[in-house]
Amino acid sequence: MGFDPKNDWLDPAIGAYIAAHTAQPDEVQRALIAETTERTGRAAGMQIAADQGVVLSLFVGITGARNVVEVGTFTGYSALCMARALPPGGRLLCCDVSEEWTSIARRSWAQAGVDERITLRIAPAIETLRDLPGDDPIDLAFIDADKGGYASYYAELLPRLRPNGVILVDNTLWSRKVLEPAAQGDTDTAALRDFNDMVAADGRVESYILPLADGLTVIRKR
Ligand SMILES: C[S@@+](CC[C@H](N)C(=O)[O-])C[C@H]1O[C@@H](n2cnc3c(N)ncnc32)[C@H](O)[C@@H]1O
Repeated sequence: MGFDPKNDWLDPAIGAYIAAHTAQPDEVQRALIAETTERTGRAAGMQIAADQGVVLSLFVGITGARNVVEVGTFTGYSALCMARALPPGGRLLCCDVSEEWTSIARRSWAQAGVDERITLRIAPAIETLRDLPGDDPIDLAFIDADKGGYASYYAELLPRLRPNGVILVDNTLWSRKVLEPAAQGDTDTAALRDFNDMVAADGRVESYILPLADGLTVIRKR
C-alpha cells in the first residue's frame, strides 16, 4: 500500500510512515483492486482505500461483531475485509443495486473462501433495511452508498443496532466540500452536511469523524 491519495490532507511523510506500518493487501485483495480498475473504469474510485479496509477489519474484530450490514458493496472490497474478520458463524448482509458490479464481488468472495458468510441483496437498500427484523440486533453497519440515502439508512439501522453497536459511514468529509454550503444543485454535499449535523446532534449516539480517506464517521449507539 503506497501513500493513499484519498488521504491528501495528511502530511505525505506521515502518510508514508503510517502506510509502512499497516498491513498490506494480500493476493486476493490486490487481484480485486486490479480487476475493479480494469473493469469499472472511472467508477473504480468508489472502492474504499486499502487502509480503510484494514480499519473496517479492525472494527469488526474489536467489537466482536457477528451480525454485520453493509450498504453499498460495489465490487466487494469493504465486504471482503469485514467478512474475513467475522468469527465462526458470523454473517454479513450486503445491499447494492448493481448486478454487474457485485458479480465481481461474488467471485472475489468465493476466491477468499468467505462467500458463505455473505448474503447479497440486489434492491434499493432502503427496501432491504426496512424488511430487516427488529429482533435480530445488528452489531456493526457500514454505510457507503448514495449520499442522499444516508439519513434514511441511519434511521433504519440505528433502532436495530445493539447498545454499543457501531455504524461506520464513509465520505463524510466529501473532499472538503462539507466545509461550505452546497452549491446550487449539489445535492450530495447538501445531504452530507445535513447528515453530519444530524449525527452530531443525536443524543442516542456518540460519534467522531475520523480524518481517514474521505472521512469515516464512527458512531456508537449509547
Ligand atoms: C461507493 S460504492 C461502494 C464501495 C464499496 N464499499 C467498496 O468497498 O468497494 C457505492 C455503491 O452503492 C450502490 N448504490 C447506489 N445507490 C444505491 C441504493 N439506492 N441502494 C443500494 N445500493 C446503492 C452503488 O451501486 C455502488 O455499488
